[in-house]
Amino acid sequence: MDILFRSLAVSVLVVGFAACGGGGNGTPAEEPAGEMPDAGAPADDAMEAADGGAVFATNCATCHGDDGTGGGAAAVGLEPPPADLTDGTWTTGDGSMAAIVNVVENGSPGTAMIAWKGTLTDAEINAVSEHIHAMGGGQ
Ligand code: HEC
Repeated sequence: MDILFRSLAVSVLVVGFAACGGGGNGTPAEEPAGEMPDAGAPADDAMEAADGGAVFATNCATCHGDDGTGGGAAAVGLEPPPADLTDGTWTTGDGSMAAIVNVVENGSPGTAMIAWKGTLTDAEINAVSEHIHAMGGGQ
């Protein structure tokens, strides 16, 4: 009887955890960042830049600021502070697309810059990296 009760309690706990566990931090970008039907639509680059801006506004602007200069509301007190992504200087790489994608995917260990791989899709990571590359005098 006691054992039966305990195993029941354990399975309730397990189910409870499973129910809470799945959501990550709960705010994935809304845009699927895929292709939109392109009935003679603008060039792909323009589409990607638009998607990247939306991904940035949703996920990154809280720290990096709407304009990418690092003044987001959540930036206060962070050490190191969120990078200014517009100034053409880079802490984590050389400002190439590959370097930007790398830090977005893997984060910058020991800082508030988390790894976004798994939270954002590859397409979203690419689009937001192109957005940053364009805003930061990328090389
Ligand atoms: C919780 C705050 C926070 C959020 C949200 C955040 N970042 Fe960051 N980010 C940082 C911090 C802090 C650094 C500086 C890391 C360092 O100095 O190594 C940084 C650095 C970077 C860098 C490297 C800049 C450089 O000079 O090398 C890139 C690129 C970047 N973030 C992109 C993004 C993108 C894209 C997003 C959204 C998907 C994002 N960040 C969301 C805090 C944040």
